[in-house]
Amino acid sequence: MNLLSPLTLGDVDIPNRVIMAPLTRLRSGHDGVPNSLNIEHYRQRASLGLLVSEGVYPGKTGQGYPGQPGLVTEEQVAGWAKVTEAVHDAGGRIFAQVMHAGRVSHSDVTGGLQPVAPSAIAIDGQVRTHDGKQPYPVPHALTEAEIDGVIEEFVQASKNAIAAGMDGVEMHGANGYLLHEFLSPESNQRTDDYGGSAANRARFVIEVVAAVAEAVGPGRVGLRISPEHNIQDAFERDHEDVKATYGALLEALAPLGLSYLSILHKEPSGDLVQDLRAAFAGPVLANSGFSVMTSREEALALLDGGHADGVVVGRPAIANPDLIRRWAEDLPLNTPDPSTFYTSGAEGYTDYPALRN
Ligand SMILES: Cc1cc2nc3c(=O)[nH]c(=O)nc-3n(C[C@H](O)[C@H](O)[C@H](O)COP(=O)(O)O)c2cc1C
Repeated sequence: MNLLSPLTLGDVDIPNRVIMAPLTRLRSGHDGVPNSLNIEHYRQRASLGLLVSEGVYPGKTGQGYPGQPGLVTEEQVAGWAKVTEAVHDAGGRIFAQVMHAGRVSHSDVTGGLQPVAPSAIAIDGQVRTHDGKQPYPVPHALTEAEIDGVIEEFVQASKNAIAAGMDGVEMHGANGYLLHEFLSPESNQRTDDYGGSAANRARFVIEVVAAVAEAVGPGRVGLRISPEHNIQDAFERDHEDVKATYGALLEALAPLGLSYLSILHKEPSGDLVQDLRAAFAGPVLANSGFSVMTSREEALALLDGGHADGVVVGRPAIANPDLIRRWAEDLPLNTPDPSTFYTSGAEGYTDYPALRN
């Protein structure tokens, strides 16, 4: 069984192949400072091979949700330092997921700033704000000079993460947020060097990842992507274009020697993901997305079938702080409660019990 075998992710060795997925939980208050409840949540899960933090904003414009933590202010960095210390003391490892929400936001959330995106196209739907749900606003299309500023925010947030004791950083290129908005031909309708061809749409993600790798070392940098996820209007409906776009992305990133590539796709063992894995030529972590919750059987099939180097696990890790033991010994599982995913307080966050003995 490969579940419990060690794995090297760039500069970081992990003791088993079950990775806690980045999971937004919105429990860090108005100032986005990790608190004692957040510390406890991550500490409880330290026996997983690697923890990836919830998506953390690299600048106020990039905040997507109320209660989301940041990696910008001194207080936020100090809060994360307490999280990493607790995880390390419990024997674990943790990466910060750096997430710029792009147009998946609202000025009520960003403190009055207009959300940004590759193009001035609003998402058709409603966003969660301090005042309940509101229609998504039309974002400001980033100028080339502003793009350089956003790359600098990713770099600074990543340096802040390392300063806070994070073992590494994961760039959030998935699920319809800013990086993904550049990759999708529907959310990116630019006519400059950052839009149009597959290679141009991949350019911004390449520049972000390369700049962060240069700043903190490539062996500490992962990237998450979700080709064909078709979420939050970052549609990718043309399979050939997807292959060309993500092919261009990985052709540029493969030589960097990154820590890992994390891929969310409904068929991790299918041709697309396996071709991307071959192109990346480094460790690939797989997750099959939201429609069916990851199961022990799926994780074993992916690892033992040689389709992935590690498995990224979301909802089972929310509900089972000791998931690695339960999966290793095939013990019963707690069931996650979706009604408390995005609420506040300990309920549904730090009160899922571990097995007693
Ligand atoms: C409550 C919740 C919050 C999530 N937040 C994030 C996030 O911040 N960043 C991210 O890349 N994915 C996020 N995801 C997606 C998960 O990382 C994962 O891909 C998804 O839950 C499917 O895996 P699972 O079946 O193991 O739960 C979130 C999912 C859930 C359920």
